[in-house]
Amino acid sequence: MSEVLTTRVAGNIGIVEIASPPVNALSTAVRAAVIEGLRVHNADDAVAAIVILCAGRTFFAGADIAEFDHLPIKQPDFDALMTTAESSPKPVVAAIHGTALGGGFELALACNYRVAVPSAKVGFPEVHLGLLPGAGGTQRLPRLIGTGAALDLILSGKPVPAAKAAEMGVVDLLAEEGKLEETAIAFAQDVAAKGAPWPKVRDRAVAGGLDEIEAIKAKHKRQFKGFKAPGHIVQALEAAVTLPFEEGLRREQELFGELLISRESAAQRHVFFAQRLTAKVPDIGKDVPILPIRKVGVIGAGTMGGGITMNFLQAGVPVTLVEMKQEALDRGIATIRKNYERTAAKGRMTMEQVDKLMSLIDPVLSLDALADVDLVVEAVFEEISIKKDIFGQLDGICREGAILASNTSFLDLDDIASATSRPEWVVGMHFFSPANVMPLLEVVRGAKTGKEVIATVMKLAGTIRKTPVLAGVCHGFIANRIMEHLIVQSQQMVLEGVPLRTIDKVMNDYGFAMGPIAMLDLIGLDVLVHGASGRTLMGDFVAAGRRGQKTGKGFYDYDADRKATLSDEAAKIIGDFATYTGIAPDPGQSEENIRQRLLYPVVNEGAKCLEEGIALRASDIDVAAILGYNWPVFTGGPMFWGDTIGAATLLQGLKDLEGRYGSAFTPAALVQKLATEGGRFVNR
Ligand code: 3HC
Repeated sequence: MSEVLTTRVAGNIGIVEIASPPVNALSTAVRAAVIEGLRVHNADDAVAAIVILCAGRTFFAGADIAEFDHLPIKQPDFDALMTTAESSPKPVVAAIHGTALGGGFELALACNYRVAVPSAKVGFPEVHLGLLPGAGGTQRLPRLIGTGAALDLILSGKPVPAAKAAEMGVVDLLAEEGKLEETAIAFAQDVAAKGAPWPKVRDRAVAGGLDEIEAIKAKHKRQFKGFKAPGHIVQALEAAVTLPFEEGLRREQELFGELLISRESAAQRHVFFAQRLTAKVPDIGKDVPILPIRKVGVIGAGTMGGGITMNFLQAGVPVTLVEMKQEALDRGIATIRKNYERTAAKGRMTMEQVDKLMSLIDPVLSLDALADVDLVVEAVFEEISIKKDIFGQLDGICREGAILASNTSFLDLDDIASATSRPEWVVGMHFFSPANVMPLLEVVRGAKTGKEVIATVMKLAGTIRKTPVLAGVCHGFIANRIMEHLIVQSQQMVLEGVPLRTIDKVMNDYGFAMGPIAMLDLIGLDVLVHGASGRTLMGDFVAAGRRGQKTGKGFYDYDADRKATLSDEAAKIIGDFATYTGIAPDPGQSEENIRQRLLYPVVNEGAKCLEEGIALRASDIDVAAILGYNWPVFTGGPMFWGDTIGAATLLQGLKDLEGRYGSAFTPAALVQKLATEGGRFVNR
């Protein structure tokens, strides 16, 4: 018997129990084990019905995604597994706890019955991996819940709670929490006693036609741009409507196979593992203590400080919010309340919850109030002297063992830490705006930051629902440092006379929801020029009252619906600044040239971050770009994309660009190395 399988018999019920931590993914060994378990019980005359269940935290959470990197899928494949379950001569009951996802949910659908505890969830997250349910899910689910509902569930990728699944007819019986096994056994005894035939999902007719598909497609239309899987999912559902079951299954497998070898799925699977890897820091083991963070201080109630505060409130952590002036404090608190009230107005929160969250804030006007907090996050102006002054004061105020964090985006953390007598307690917590929304937290490790401080902040990121990426100290850390090139080059091209719309279009075509020029207008040009010295193009825009979308005009003009149009005034500001800088006009650049100019230096800078040890691994850079700058997921992030185009092509492109535009494109040593010796940025 295999290591993951236990078979036992309770009364006249055979139990197939799988234990393959952490999530009972359906690897080759697990598939074989389930088939073997079913064989054992079907061969045992004392067994009248079979229950499949899992040990540990969850029912099968799907296929083993790592196996998809090594095709072809080994035997017994998913088809063999599903066919064995579905054609079992004895009735089979799936007993579900945790998350029955992907292939795990498909196995449950191939069983005759499904019993689940209320805390369980079922769903098809394949779309997030650039895949579709490829083990019969697209053919069986519409037979149970109808075409429209099935397509909606598969396209959304969101798991459904067991109670809802029971309402939909997916789950036959809800078991009391903690009583799954005994309930499933009793249920199996019942159905065995009633005798054959036992229902099979495959025998049911599909409810709902092609018209339902159109409506659901429209609902999810934003998901289709750039991603390959949604279109294939629709085709698989169409097959469920138009073809007999067996033919539908074959069509599903064909479509699944196409996705499995697609660049988009490879990229999305990379992102799945990359997001789970960022929290792992090689020199920080499980033995490093995690410090309790029960109370937090935030300094600065502006946009950043307010957003940061909201993260902690939502995690139930009280915040002492410090401002220097009453008016600024009142304004900051009012903004937080307004944000929550807006959420409440949309029905996503009650007013009682709003009041409860607001009651967690202790608004104060003095740093002295931070004497008892476990963590301080400073979010004031990006001005080194101000930050050093604050950290110097915190050193005298905060208790021993309190973590002192700065939200600086560009400044030298070690310099900030030097203002204290305890640099080992100083760390960077770099949030991205809006801080209550953007999922990235760069955790900046200073030269002297202590291990328990890093371990604590990496863990805390999860508590406030952020993905942490560890960064070393340098100008801009990871995300801002690499993406600055895209901004600088887009500005340069604007001055060379390349049409704004062309620059934005090239990035839209690549997959960004918003081009770089439109993004600057959205962020606000005044925010971006803050602290800049000398005359800049954006400074000229701000001086002309064109601060971006919020003033109805920036690089573009905006109407009441925020629709962008070109502006003569903006064109004149650009022309004047180009004359001032003496930049040579070159308006007719090809889209390919623009694309390389914007993206190659980002990958190149990522390579430098790796060389310098600023980033732990290439996949961390991808996560930072995706979560911090909405880099299109289906490219896998800049480094994975760099691997897709190949180091040799990248090197040649950079050299060409360096020849024409100078040292901003000088290839990183790592790019040269990979181009000559072979290899990839991302190694998993
Ligand atoms: N395959 C391989 N490894 C998996 C996995 C899977 N399906 N699901 C999770 N893991 C690994 C994670 O990489 C992680 O590994 P690590 O400890 O080395 O970092 C570990 O299991 C624990 O995962 P999480 O940290 O994500 O644990 P959580 O408790 O936060 O979440 C979960 C559990 C909800 C199950 C989440 O892991 C998840 O969503 N998993 C993916 C589920 C999925 O996408 N299933 C569909 C697969 S594709 C498929 O089934 C195709 C089929 O149609 C043929």
